[in-house]
Amino acid sequence: METTGCRSDAEPGDALASRGWVVLPRFFDPGLVAALRDEVHRAGLVGMRRAGIGRGRQRRVLDAVRGDWIRWLDGSTAAQREFLERLEDLRIRINRALMLGLFEVEAHFALYPPGTGYECHLDAFQQDNPRRLSAVLYLNRHWRRSQGGTLAIHDARGQIVEHILPEAGTMVLFLSQTVPHAVLPTRRWRASIAAWFRVRDIGDGPGTR
Ligand code: OGA
Ligand code: MN
Repeated sequence: METTGCRSDAEPGDALASRGWVVLPRFFDPGLVAALRDEVHRAGLVGMRRAGIGRGRQRRVLDAVRGDWIRWLDGSTAAQREFLERLEDLRIRINRALMLGLFEVEAHFALYPPGTGYECHLDAFQQDNPRRLSAVLYLNRHWRRSQGGTLAIHDARGQIVEHILPEAGTMVLFLSQTVPHAVLPTRRWRASIAAWFRVRDIGDGPGTR
């Protein structure tokens, strides 16, 4: 069993810089992944809410576009705290390698019921969105391709260039502003944690109100 959180042979910065996304199959300790999976399955949909599209007053819940239920991580369990610490290590590492100026992270559990997915989108479409790097950790054991629910990475012309199985322990990193992606319809319950590294809010800077 692995005891370290990160694999030294996987340098996420290189692939991120060259193509905008990278898959890290065993980034976290398997015990941590199991604890996070237990947490999401113990609670089920209790405490979760339907995810929306858009922010603030523009927010809408549209089943045809996005079918997941979410709960934000608040550091209330040991597993959440360890996960957020690992993301903090990653934030520092990525900033050193890529100078993205990542400042903070936000993360939510996501559960997609059978029959749902998330249409092709960018995580930061509007100019003022501070999200720069997206990270998704999957929590599902023994996922098979026939069960659907893959993360489909698209190129700029809208062609799918890779399918990533949402298998427990796999983490995907991608640039929030430039990598279009979709969750294809899933045939079984699909659990994950989606996280976004953000730059300091544009509105906080000098010379702005
Ligand atoms: C998202 C998203 C991908 C996934 O939550 O914005 O694109 O594989 N998630 O769960
Ligand atoms: Mn997304």
